[in-house]
Amino acid sequence: MTVHIGAAPGEIAQTVLMPGDPYRAKWAAETFLKDAKLVNEVRGMLGFTGTWNGNPVTIQGSGMGMPSLSIYANELISSYDVQTLVRIGSCGGMQPHVGIRDVIVAMSASTITSPSSGIFRELNFAPTADWSLLQAAVKAAEARGTKTHVGGIYSSDVFYAERPDLDEQMVRHGILGVEMEAAELYTLAARHGRRALAVLTVSDHLQTGEALPSEDREKTFGDMVEIALEAAFS
Ligand code: HPA
Repeated sequence: MTVHIGAAPGEIAQTVLMPGDPYRAKWAAETFLKDAKLVNEVRGMLGFTGTWNGNPVTIQGSGMGMPSLSIYANELISSYDVQTLVRIGSCGGMQPHVGIRDVIVAMSASTITSPSSGIFRELNFAPTADWSLLQAAVKAAEARGTKTHVGGIYSSDVFYAERPDLDEQMVRHGILGVEMEAAELYTLAARHGRRALAVLTVSDHLQTGEALPSEDREKTFGDMVEIALEAAFS
């Protein structure tokens, strides 16, 4: 047990999928895992452990934003010895060729600040995905025929941005999409020698204002979960 995770030692698998939304963790566990069992409900941040193709896997909500994700990822790594952490979540599209429902596999995650900024001081660390996971996710996405983009994303501290000029610089530098968690996940994985990746579904688009209708979300998010599972166990 940790401050924020009530699971007993051994109840968390070495591979963890992390959606922001705890109810998406429940849905993904019930839909894709065998024998899924609730292992955490502290603060309603649901976590489930079951198996996928015989492999033990936990799906644990991270909450929204890097400070929240940082709490769960730190505890998973330090107290439960988790080796592989895959964020599954939504993002806002930032390039004209990135469409709603497309999948983005995040090679790197740019930030203004993250919970780790303090330790880097004048350094601009480049949070980067694990290559083996990235390669396997791209292969899995291609095999499924999912429209997938691979490249840099922007991990923002705000959903309601007041500085459109910052988004413009990201767009100008080829950033594919914006979300709020991956950079801290990649940084923690680098610090502790673990593997991390973010597989994201484009749920809205900053340039077109389009948004995924709620009835489409399950099927689209399902592709992302399966890509993440295939990557984690390839
Ligand atoms: N901004 C930040 N995070 C997001 C967005 C967005 O537009 N869409 C989904 N997650």
